[in-house]
Amino acid sequence: MLSGKKIVLGITGSIAAYKSVLLLRLLIKAGAEVKVVCTPSVNAFLGELTLSSLSGKSVFSGIWEENWSEHVELGLWADLMIVAPATANTLAKFSHGLCDNALTAVYLAARCPVMLAPAMDVDMYKHSRTQKNLKELESDGCIVLETGEGFLASGLEGVGRMLEPEELYEIIESHFRGSELSGKKILISAGPTQESLDPVRFISNHSSGKMGYALAKAAWYMGADVSLVSGPTQLSPPKGVTFTNVISAQDMFEAVTAEADEQDCIIMAAAVADYTPLTKADQKIKKSGDDMQIPLKRTKDILKSLGEKKPEGQILVGFAMETENELDNAQKKLFKKKMDFVVLNSLRDKGAGFKHDTNKVTIMDQAGNVEALPLKSKEELAGDILQKVIKLFAARKT
Ligand code: CTP
Repeated sequence: MLSGKKIVLGITGSIAAYKSVLLLRLLIKAGAEVKVVCTPSVNAFLGELTLSSLSGKSVFSGIWEENWSEHVELGLWADLMIVAPATANTLAKFSHGLCDNALTAVYLAARCPVMLAPAMDVDMYKHSRTQKNLKELESDGCIVLETGEGFLASGLEGVGRMLEPEELYEIIESHFRGSELSGKKILISAGPTQESLDPVRFISNHSSGKMGYALAKAAWYMGADVSLVSGPTQLSPPKGVTFTNVISAQDMFEAVTAEADEQDCIIMAAAVADYTPLTKADQKIKKSGDDMQIPLKRTKDILKSLGEKKPEGQILVGFAMETENELDNAQKKLFKKKMDFVVLNSLRDKGAGFKHDTNKVTIMDQAGNVEALPLKSKEELAGDILQKVIKLFAARKT
């Protein structure tokens, strides 16, 4: 998500500094380039080796060393500076323009947006002086983040606790949210469906939902208004998307069709059951005899029905999971279901398909283009699929 983004992570001397290590990891994992700047008192809480090992870059902490001019370079280099934790002391220095260490110097030299994540004891946080400093920093253009409430290292309880690394990460991600898909409504289906046999059993498949959730997250990140309709998965709905939880193929059909007409694009990434039990027993089915048959009936083909009444200009994308005659089968689905393009994954490819974090696909479109992509993370692939959607939107506009 944050690939290519340049972030200065400022750390000050607070017990909450351990959370910065986790934030640093999240940022690096998301592809950001992070340079860490510490105040001298951070040494009491964290070793620089931990921070330099995780960021892959040396930590800037001594303004009087030979790299003394780095504060200016860092201030110009960064797309974002976040100070987490920001102690009362550092906030006071920032608000008065003091410049007595590496971090305060970088702050004064920074031309990028600056986010501050305060961390201190409840009384220090509520003190009128701290509150005035925070207000002033806000009016100077800083993005002053809330604090959490709860157990504090002092043993007291209340406000002043720094936000959790995951919360900070999400705020940073939102900050960098793009606009390539802004104004576009995109519906994405994900996960398996479950077809009940009786109150305790169901028929389903191995879909994890990872591909659909990665698409929803990436579409939101590109600025789209995203609706995610998901069968049962172990995943948490991505932040910012409208989430509808469904169980059966019929539920998914109803949820998707209810919203379909207003969408600019629909991506059916769900592994929808093709058959469902003819009847659902009210009570648990008791065993009897050595074998049993379960009569099944066809479910509605959601994608096919969307293709049949597709509003003008809407982009329809489907997946095809195949184990043999892959290109041929996928092409048949592309035409039969009137998709704009189909994303084919073959279970014969290592690392592709259900449950993996990676996928290897071939994209085939109505114009006859066939593009075989290398093995990628599902997040990267989500980006590629959405780039293809963006190209189609652009082509339709012209
Ligand atoms: N699909 C759907 N409704 C169904 C079955 C599938 O909308 N009842 C969608 C899937 O979400 C996917 C595409 O159709 O985007 C192709 O699904 P797939 O399971 O590969 O193919 P099927 O059409 O079900 O054909 P088969 O199982 O015979 O290969």
